[in-house]
Amino acid sequence: MSDTINVSYDTQIPNNVGLSSDRRVLKALEKWHPGYLDWWKGQGPDGFQESLVYLRTAVSVDPKGWAKFDYVRMPEYRWGILLAPQVEGRIIPCGEHYGEPAWQEVPGEYRSMLRRLVVIQGDTEPASVEQQRFLGKTAPSLYDMRNLFQVNVEEARHLWAMVYILQKYFGRDGREESAELLQRRSGSDEKPRMLGAFNEETPDWLSFFMFTYFTDRDGKMQLESLAQSGFDPLSRTCRFMLTEEAHHMFVGETGVGRTIQKTCERMREAGIDDPTDIGRVRDLGVIDLPTIQKKLNLHYTLSLDLFGSEVSTNAANAFNAGIKGRYRENKIDDDHRLRDATYPVSEFTDGKIVVKEVPALTAINMRLRDDYSRDALGGVKRWNAIIKKHGFDFELTLPHEGFHRQIGTYTGAPITPEGEVITPEEWAARRDEWLPSKEDGDFIASLMKPCWEAGKYADWIAPPRVGIDNKPGDFEYVQLHMA
Ligand SMILES: [Fe+2]
Ligand SMILES: [Fe+2]
Repeated sequence: MSDTINVSYDTQIPNNVGLSSDRRVLKALEKWHPGYLDWWKGQGPDGFQESLVYLRTAVSVDPKGWAKFDYVRMPEYRWGILLAPQVEGRIIPCGEHYGEPAWQEVPGEYRSMLRRLVVIQGDTEPASVEQQRFLGKTAPSLYDMRNLFQVNVEEARHLWAMVYILQKYFGRDGREESAELLQRRSGSDEKPRMLGAFNEETPDWLSFFMFTYFTDRDGKMQLESLAQSGFDPLSRTCRFMLTEEAHHMFVGETGVGRTIQKTCERMREAGIDDPTDIGRVRDLGVIDLPTIQKKLNLHYTLSLDLFGSEVSTNAANAFNAGIKGRYRENKIDDDHRLRDATYPVSEFTDGKIVVKEVPALTAINMRLRDDYSRDALGGVKRWNAIIKKHGFDFELTLPHEGFHRQIGTYTGAPITPEGEVITPEEWAARRDEWLPSKEDGDFIASLMKPCWEAGKYADWIAPPRVGIDNKPGDFEYVQLHMA
């Protein structure tokens, strides 16, 4: 392994960016660290700071062996700063500087735009930790608890990744922004997190799984487009973050899949043929498929909102500047400047959905969102395969892009999940058919009883097919030591 791959543990902060010879940044980060730890202890997993958790820690960026598994107390986790290796001869992949060498320093003219993108990305990372801080108490198994905490420590590392960029490249502004990232709070009235979905509650484990499937996938798409930045340090840090992100979506996909699996098994045992017979299914102590669809509707649409307006000059400017590319920009075969290209975007006007061709440059958000929806479909298909395998006639679907939106052209539009335009009155009257109601929430909450015996699982969820790090079924993923 070369020097850029190995991690230096000779300073307080594991890193492969030569921190020990960069006194200024090292000092700034060491100064930020105590406030960060206070934030983690106050806003991180509630009640488990003393527990020993079987976690992976990033110790290098070598694709073949970047993680090391061991028991760790979370406050002692080695949150490190790891950048994917520099690609020799890398160019600015899009916009008016297309083909010029990638920037190793912040281009002055784009400084504030770049800072804003880094801060918005950074803000989502601690927000999700805050949203999930009480879930440990109702964990359906030690396996699931461990996965929750793994996601949490890695989101916190992603905060570190963004704070490093701010401290290293943005001077005093960067220090101020780094401090503020520790001050905003998910769901707060005075100082909320920056984006809507990150101020919503994550009240139960099905929400957590839906969140990691749908909202972490938005994170993936944003990281993918920042990995295509002409500002090379940002590209490199995002590329490594994507390695960790894959596990978060795995937790979401398999979590929802195991929930579906258990529901189907119970329905079969009880001789129930109709998955929409909600009362009978709930009596079995599992989550009925129509409620799973409602949860999907909620989390998918909140996540669509994270992509911003379909037509956006900000997105056009960021692309043009070469600081944020499209999904897999370097694999797309076109001029990478979008001088004459157009892109179809639907619009809601006068109560109708119309599709328009707009300049592709202004439709960057829309294109990324389309890529996201295609990507999100894969897991839905695999969930449906579980339902089908058990012989039930029921299909989960992604709702229409106009359903339940709070950002963009469809904001507040009365559109059904099937894409039918109805009256606002009818929409309001039928809302609980499509989105989780108070009653649905109460039912799910009634199932959220902790199950903390090694190898055991709560009755509403099936065990995983394989353990983490190939551990056997009865492995004790968390040693509790409750505070
Ligand atoms: Fe993240
Ligand atoms: Fe994530």
